[in-house]
This record gives sequence, structure tokens and C-alpha cells, in this order.
Amino acid sequence: MCGIVGFIGTEQAAPILLDGLQRLEYRGYDSAGIAVLSGERELQVKKSKGRLKVLSDIINGGKSVEGTIGIGHTRWATHGEPNDINAHPHLSGNGKIAVVHNGIIENYVELRDFLRSKGYEFRSETDTEVVTQLIAYYYEECGSCLEAVFRVLRRIEGAYALGILCADEPEHFIAARKDAPLLIGYGEGCNFIASDVTAIIKHTRDVSYMEDGEVAVVSKDGVEFYNSLEQPITKEHHTIDWDVSAAEKGGYAHFMLKEIMEQPEAIRKTAFSRIKDNRVFFEDLKIDADYISSINKIYIVACGSSYHVGVVGKYNLERMLRKPVEVCLASEFRYCDPLVDPRSLVIVISQSGETLDTMAALREAKALGAHILSIVNVVGSSIARESDDVLYTWAGPEIAVATTKAYSTQLVLLNMLGLYFGDILGTVSQEEYACIMNELLRLPAKMEQMLENTEDIKHFASNYFNHDSVFFIGRNLDYAMGLEGSLKLKEISYIHSEAYASGELKHGTISLIEDGTLVVALGTYSALFDKAMSNVVEVQARGADVLAVTTESHAAEMRKTVGNVIAVPNTHTIFQPSLGVVPLQLFAYYVALLRGCDIDKPRNLAKSVTVE
Ligand code: AGP
Ligand code: GLU
Repeated sequence: MCGIVGFIGTEQAAPILLDGLQRLEYRGYDSAGIAVLSGERELQVKKSKGRLKVLSDIINGGKSVEGTIGIGHTRWATHGEPNDINAHPHLSGNGKIAVVHNGIIENYVELRDFLRSKGYEFRSETDTEVVTQLIAYYYEECGSCLEAVFRVLRRIEGAYALGILCADEPEHFIAARKDAPLLIGYGEGCNFIASDVTAIIKHTRDVSYMEDGEVAVVSKDGVEFYNSLEQPITKEHHTIDWDVSAAEKGGYAHFMLKEIMEQPEAIRKTAFSRIKDNRVFFEDLKIDADYISSINKIYIVACGSSYHVGVVGKYNLERMLRKPVEVCLASEFRYCDPLVDPRSLVIVISQSGETLDTMAALREAKALGAHILSIVNVVGSSIARESDDVLYTWAGPEIAVATTKAYSTQLVLLNMLGLYFGDILGTVSQEEYACIMNELLRLPAKMEQMLENTEDIKHFASNYFNHDSVFFIGRNLDYAMGLEGSLKLKEISYIHSEAYASGELKHGTISLIEDGTLVVALGTYSALFDKAMSNVVEVQARGADVLAVTTESHAAEMRKTVGNVIAVPNTHTIFQPSLGVVPLQLFAYYVALLRGCDIDKPRNLAKSVTVE
């Protein structure tokens, strides 16, 4: 979950590296650094704790670092606190090898002990410096950086995307990857590596995605690839078709607000491209009616907000398909000896397509014979490439660490999958199908209607931004939606929050409700509105300050009891969370704004968690 960029060409490398790192900073930002090889074959390493601007100011925007080949890194620390010494690139003791790394080397302690026994010393606490010194060790032995890298890759265990510079080999740099994303960008008289395409799209749209175990030797006139058996291979080229502005703020104060506002269009792109004559169709889905009928259980596996999509999905898919649906945290799934078999459909949800916990769960399920269908936002990402079927959410690049439009498009796509399966299984009647389709077609417009007036939500945020604990309570789909509302508030405003099944509150946690406790009461699931009302009264009796979210048809009833009510348009039950989550996203955004938080890059977080 850090950002890596590399360049070799005829222009000065440092400014290009800094520009690329700036576009990758959302992936990790506790420190940053670059290594550039000068014409005199001197490896210049410049790195510092803090945001990229600190580094850029030190090197005058890159002007004070000469050289046309270099590598860069923005870090999300896993081994060793964020500081100047632990920042990447790491330099070997002999000054010949510089390395940037995304991932975790699991056997770094034993390798460090081995190197110490050979007289090597270490400056940092990182696992990455061990890789750097190990490359230097083998380079001393064999005199070839590529051969040294091969020898190191045979020994290290864990996840890595690596950029490697050798002072004695100025005509190229080396890249390697396993379980962490890395792509090659092909330019005019220059070539690049990057963790994702946003770093280099202004230079090229012509890319190749590195696969696990592959190594690349990148020179300005070409790229040589080697597979995990160290055999030369050729790689397919892909053309990136989205425009640079999609990865810019577009006049909004934050990417998060821009992406909240983009949700209706993202849903149109994701959903309407899969609707013909008011029927859902998935043109390239490999699973057919026989397979769908044979499914004995559906697992939904994901992390964070993608997991929250799965919680909503469980309620909706079980209702539509009358088949058991189990939603699992990916980081737990792989260690619980899952009862997956060839008749299990495993739906993997991931915005980045690179979340290591989710990737590992995918591989576990695949090994058990399950069919893997993934819902992913990044084309060509690792999870997409390892799935049997992939449905892309066409949300466009999502830059803010706190997901919004990806969550919304995942949710709609999962509901569409349920509708598609339900039609095949006959568990969704044609009348119900038509009703759902009608509401699906109107969903973006209803969302736009809500986004046109956010004044009430700004007002509520101004009432509550100083609270230090917030409960989101709801039942069924409202509970599932509350999980996402709570996470949004936590991750960008740093206010402790908890989503709770309303019916469970009285079994203990209600003891925490006292005078002034903020409770966001979610009452959009119409079938249990009366229950929601009784829970509102229950917490008010203990002094809670209630902010209610309900549908327009229940707003008047709710206002009899609650002063602060947010009304969302009515829609079909399965889409109610898609609308109800929008005010929760905005509430979190405006609270965080009032608290002066760094909304697009919250502390301790990164956009894609590519470490376990
Ligand atoms: C969402 O706001 C968080 N940034 C985080 O929970 C995220 O959803 C999670 O890390 C999963 O990421 P993915 O969808 O890219 O796999
Ligand atoms: N494990 C390495 C470190 O802690 C890399 C972390 C990352 O992926 O940014 O420095």
C-alpha cells in the first residue's frame, strides 16, 4: 500500500518522479524519497519523513538532483516508524544498490541475521533494507544486478513490488513483483514503472501489468521480462482509456466530495451499460443457468467498505435467491477452514483489486474448487486477473482513501447480479423484476436530487462535530448501511463510532447511552420502521441526542419524536441503502471538514492495503 514510481529516459528523472509520487500519495504518505543515478554513476538518495512536499522542498522540486534514471517511493510503514532513516529508497552499505519496496518480507529477520554474520550492518528497522543488502551481497558475488535479484527472489518470502537501481548499471533499472501491484509504462524514448496507472498516465497510456514472480529489466529503449523460472518472456500491452482529468479534483475542495458527487454518473456507467430492453445482461459472464442452479452456497468475501457492501448483499441476495449467503471478512476467511466446495460461488469485492487480505482469501477459495466472481474497480488488477469471472464497476479512478463511489457502484452491481440470478432461478417474479428494474433506472436521478441540497447535513454536522462517540443504530438493511456510515465517520473525522443492530442494543451496549450521546437512528427499511421508532424512544429515554435518517414517506412520523431528521427518497427495498448511505457520507465529510482533518489522506490509512 505504498506508491512506487520509476523512470529511465533522456529527461531529468527527479521532477518526473516527484510528479508521479504526488499522484500516488493517496496510497501511503508517512514519508517519501527518490534515488537518481547521476552521469558520474553516483546514486543520489533524497528522502524524508512527512508528506511529499517536504521532500520536494528539500530538492527544489527535483531541480537539485541530476540524472535521467531514478526510482521513487511514498511509504505506508509496516516495519519501523515513519522517519527519515526508515523512509525509502534504501541504499546498500557499499552505496551501489538502491531499492524501493511495497509489501512485507516475512523472513527478513533470518535474512538480516545471515547478513550480519557476513559483516553487514543495518541503519533502519525495515524489512526493505534487508532486501537491499541481500542484493548487494549477491551482486558482490556475481557482478550482475539481474542475477543478484534472481538469487534474492529465490530466498525472500512475502509480498513485494520492487524497484532496484545499481550504480554500476546506469543503462537500466530492475523491477520485480509478487502479491503487490506493479506495472510497466512504455513512453517515447523512455519507460516507467508504477504502482498504478495514475502516476504515469500523463506520459503514456501503453502499459503491461507485471504478474507474480516476474522480473523486468527496464531501459529507455525497451523492457525485458522474465518469468518466475527466470526465463525470458514477452508481455501483452494494454491501452488505458480513461482521461487524466478523471484523476484530478475538478474544482472540488477534496477528492472525497468530488467522488460523492460523481456517484449518480458512476452508477449510470456501471449499471446502464448492463441493461438492454429493461433486462439485466452480463455479456461476458462465464457461469450459465445450470451452474447458477447448482450453487449450494454463496460466499461474499471482502474488507472494509467492500465488506459492508457484502453485508447489504447478504440480506438482498438471500431475499431474491432463497440460497444461503455468507459474508466474510477476507482476513478471517482464510484462517477459518471455510466450508467451500466446487458448488460454492465466491463473490470477491474490491475497489483496488489489490487488497492482499482479499487476494489471499480468493486464492484459498480457488484452491478449494470454488468459482470466483469478482467485483472490482481497477481494470487489470491482480484480483481481477485471478478471478474466473470479473464484473468491473465503471466508477473511474477513486483517489480519496475513504471510498464512496466505488462502494455505491459495487452495491448496485451486486443487486443486479441478484436480480439476474433470481430471474434465472425463478425466485424473482416477472412483476417484482419489473418493479426493481424501474427503480434501478431511477436510482441515479433520485441520488442527484439528494445531492442538490446538502445544507441540512452541513447544519447537522455543525451541531455534532465536537462529539467524541457516535452510535449508528438500525435493523436489517439499516444495520448493514450503518456499518458503512460509521466507518466513514471514523476514518476521516477520527471520532469513535459504532454501528449497532438496534435490537441488540438493550443486551448491554445501551449502558453507554447517556445525556447528549449522539445516536444516528437509521429507519429507511420500511418493513421495520415501527421497530426503528421504538428504538429511537428507547435511546431518547436515556438522554440520547438523535439524528434520524428515514424515507420521505416516514419523515412526518419520525419528526413527531425526533427534531433532526434526514429524509431520503423512497425506492425499492433493495436500493434503499444505496440512497440512505449518501447523507451518511456527507455527514462524515462535513464533520471532518469542521474538525480540520485531512479528508483525502486520513492519518494511518492508505487507499490500497497491499500488506497483511
Ligand atoms: C474504505 O473507506 C476504506 N478505505 C477501506 O475500508 C477499504 O474499503 C478496504 O481497505 C478495502 O479496499 P478494497 O475495496 O480496495 O479491497
Ligand atoms: N515493509 C516496508 C516498510 O515498512 C514497505 C511498506 C510499504 O509497502 O510502504 O518500509
